[in-house]
Amino acid sequence: MFPNFPSLLIVLIAFFFCFQTSESQNLLPRGSSLSVEDNTGVLTSPDKTFSCGFYGLGGNAYLFSIWFTHSRDRTVVWTANRDRPVNGQGSRASLRRNGAMVITDVDGRVIWMTNTTSTGADRAELLDTGNLVLKDRHGKILWQSFDFPTDTLLPNQVFRKSTKLISGVGNGTYASGYFSLYFDNDNVLRLMYDGPEISSVYWPDPDLNVFQNGRTNYNSSRIAVFDDFGSFSSSDELKFSAIDMGFGIKRRLTMDYDGNLRLYSLNNVTGLWMISWQALMRTCKVHGVCGKNGICTYKPEPKCSCPPGYEATEPGDWSKGCKPKFNRTALSSLTDVKFIKVPKVDFYGFDLNFSEHVSKEACMKLCLDDFRCSGFSYRLTGERVCFTKSELFNGYKAPNFPGDMYLKLPVTVEALEPAILNGTNPACQSNKSDILVGSPSMYYRNTKRVKWSYFYWFALAIGAIEVLFIVSGWWLLFRRQGIPSSLEDGYRALSSQFRRFSYAELKKATNSFKEELGKGGSGAVYKGVLADERAVAVKRLGDLHQGEEVFWAEVSTIGKIYHMNLVRMWGFCTEGIHRLLVYEYVENQSLDKHLFSSYFLRWKERFKVALGTAKGLAYLHHECLEWVIHCDVKPENILLDSEFEPKIADFGLAKLSQRGSNSSQFSQIRGTKGYMAPEWASNLPITSKVDVFSYGVVILEMLKGIRLSNWVVEDSEGQEAELTGFIREVKEKILCGEEARIEEIMDPRLKGHFNKNQAATLFRIGISCVDEDRNKRPTMDSVVQTLLGCEAESEVPVERN
Ligand SMILES: *[C@@H]1O[C@H](CO)[C@@H](O)[C@H](O)[C@H]1NC(C)=O
Ligand SMILES: *[C@@H]1O[C@H](CO)[C@@H](O)[C@H](O)[C@H]1NC(C)=O
Ligand SMILES: *[C@@H]1O[C@H](CO)[C@@H](O)[C@H](O)[C@H]1NC(C)=O
Ligand SMILES: *[C@@H]1O[C@H](CO)[C@@H](O)[C@H](O)[C@H]1NC(C)=O
Ligand SMILES: *[C@@H]1O[C@H](CO)[C@@H](O)[C@H](O)[C@H]1NC(C)=O
Ligand SMILES: *[C@@H]1O[C@H](CO)[C@@H](O)[C@H](O)[C@H]1NC(C)=O
Ligand SMILES: *[C@@H]1O[C@H](CO)[C@@H](O)[C@H](O)[C@H]1NC(C)=O
Ligand SMILES: *[C@@H]1O[C@H](CO)[C@@H](O)[C@H](O)[C@H]1NC(C)=O
Repeated sequence: MFPNFPSLLIVLIAFFFCFQTSESQNLLPRGSSLSVEDNTGVLTSPDKTFSCGFYGLGGNAYLFSIWFTHSRDRTVVWTANRDRPVNGQGSRASLRRNGAMVITDVDGRVIWMTNTTSTGADRAELLDTGNLVLKDRHGKILWQSFDFPTDTLLPNQVFRKSTKLISGVGNGTYASGYFSLYFDNDNVLRLMYDGPEISSVYWPDPDLNVFQNGRTNYNSSRIAVFDDFGSFSSSDELKFSAIDMGFGIKRRLTMDYDGNLRLYSLNNVTGLWMISWQALMRTCKVHGVCGKNGICTYKPEPKCSCPPGYEATEPGDWSKGCKPKFNRTALSSLTDVKFIKVPKVDFYGFDLNFSEHVSKEACMKLCLDDFRCSGFSYRLTGERVCFTKSELFNGYKAPNFPGDMYLKLPVTVEALEPAILNGTNPACQSNKSDILVGSPSMYYRNTKRVKWSYFYWFALAIGAIEVLFIVSGWWLLFRRQGIPSSLEDGYRALSSQFRRFSYAELKKATNSFKEELGKGGSGAVYKGVLADERAVAVKRLGDLHQGEEVFWAEVSTIGKIYHMNLVRMWGFCTEGIHRLLVYEYVENQSLDKHLFSSYFLRWKERFKVALGTAKGLAYLHHECLEWVIHCDVKPENILLDSEFEPKIADFGLAKLSQRGSNSSQFSQIRGTKGYMAPEWASNLPITSKVDVFSYGVVILEMLKGIRLSNWVVEDSEGQEAELTGFIREVKEKILCGEEARIEEIMDPRLKGHFNKNQAATLFRIGISCVDEDRNKRPTMDSVVQTLLGCEAESEVPVERN
């Protein structure tokens, strides 16, 4: 009757099978398995974001893993057998009939299994979230890979007290490394280096307590998670957001093998990862990164080196650190030892003894008398502090570090300081770093009546060089291990990735640019509130005739700069003719409002401003990673937060405006003439010393309480005398020893309530900063050192009636 029926059925079945195989599977039924040889050996999540199966390491080694299907390098987010790869031939991942998921090697040996034996697990399923789950017949989850993270956390994957993220080793094997993220016993989320010889916690900042780090240890739930929007929150009150926060972006939080914890966002066009948050801005803060006895330093890229008298244990593998060139056991019995100074270096931890208010000689004696001592660290700030060290770990060199390390070595050991450590820093000291392109004469318009005519600063071509440095630096640091391309791309991307706002968004945030906070040379600033309730200051730049790409690139460089005494840039907008910058909102307005108007700034706050501003500038000038000369230091650009901590605004803008400028814009900068160093007018190259000069003027103004820079020049005699006269007065009354007369020249509004020693120090700094000869001006680094030295003093003398 229906002769065709069987053949129809066959066709249908065949069609069904074709359909089945072309459709990728997301579940593995009980009693079946995946293998490498098998073409269908991969599970794919329904939306195809994740894949799960055997992941080849090259050669014939495979890991059972979950990875991002669409990222260019198939980024692995989870691995079952990270420390025990299996053979490509004959290895299987099976869901056994007894309910356990099992990985077997070629010889049938069980490498890994889940704890679901005899639970009635019915199928393994890969979900859209990247979670591999075992479900029973009713869909109840019996086991999930989310409970056993390796080095990566995905959105909505809950991180608990029982879990840890452990870094890889970075040689492409995914084997467990030494760095981990975990909840500590006191409920705080931490990063730790747990190496073969030592372990050490390095994040949050171990020099601060839990609360100073913005955390709490009261909540014992120990739970952390980040959502699809890119916001992370933890029960210890750590909260952060991706720089590109918003829905629809694939993200991962990874414990990287360099010891930093980073949040990444996937660019769905290029398939590359971009860093959208990281725990540590500076790699050398990671403990153990250069191994035992090694020292991490910025050149400006992070680099490892050995101290004098030591050599690399295994050239090419810094995690092994350095070994002494002498017999360490013999050293303890030697009488002939010497101490070699390694400037600006500290080794964290392993203190034998800590004492304050001791001389360097006493400190040396402490180390000499203790056979366990390998060296001592001596800090000059305030109380002179001495640490003797039993071991040298977590070595770190920073140009701002206020102390030196002294290594104990046998006299017979030749101890040449390697060039990398002895201050011959090619990046910091060569012409490239300090000297800017162009000379002011190019911008000097000699109109007869105005001596300080309008000129425009030319600044920082260094931006480009700097980005290059960072990228090549990372490359150098990680080349030894073949950096996973995700990291490399991430760093490249860091300079181009930044929160970009739409014009509409900013218009809404500022209520159509209603509340103007101020107007500067580069444009007006408006107050606003973003959709996430952050208060911001939005700066509308004047006409910048430059393309979006250039603007984006340059602004990103500025946005990367991060220091508590610098105003943070959150993002920018470039749309059509609009160019806007979005900054954090700083509550207490600018310094000029407090100094030159009816507001009043107490001594304690003035000192804080002087120190904070110096720190901010020192960061810009000396911390090599981000290098900027401000070129416009003045009270208007020093903002005060609610605690009167200063934050420097407008850094890096000289670079921005310079590109698109034409001569007609030079007239916009009149307001800051009084703060300019003389070399702007002469033909000398512009160095960071121009900022030092401006800083000096600001300091003197803070002491005197009036504007000294107010020279509306008709001819140079009258107003210029304001500053020069004051300098002469200071020199006579203070620098020549008559400190008793200091009160005569201080701001009378202080009514004698100030610390004389601090004031005298500030006077000395102010005067030396405004020296005509830029070589005689101090660096901002040394200013910071000097101020730190008198910071702790009791501030105000007893009130007199
Ligand atoms: C398997 O381990 C998970 C996580 O440790 C646990 O929640 C679950 O109860 C365990 N299952 C069995 C059957 O032991
Ligand atoms: C990668 O590192 C691990 C652990 O340090 C080591 O056992 C392995 O041999 C290394 N593999 C390669 C290919 O370097
Ligand atoms: C502890 O943290 C969790 C998760 O952040 C939160 O839900 C809970 O309310 C907190 N408990 C207390 C007592 O603050
Ligand atoms: C790529 O991501 C953006 C959001 O960043 C989204 O709007 C767009 O639809 C995505 N494109 C694809 C092809 O997924
Ligand atoms: C180091 O010195 C100790 C004691 O002087 C000696 O026992 C030991 O053999 C020496 N080690 C080496 C490697 O020379
Ligand atoms: C550190 O040295 C001082 C001076 O010798 C001594 O009084 C003190 O007890 C030592 N402290 C420790 C912890 O060894
Ligand atoms: C730094 O080290 C290099 C190479 O060892 C040496 O040539 C140079 O003289 C040293 N410079 C200083 C200031 O010690
Ligand atoms: C610095 O620049 C001067 C003049 O351009 C040049 O002669 C000198 O060799 C440079 N020095 C270095 C270390 O590059």
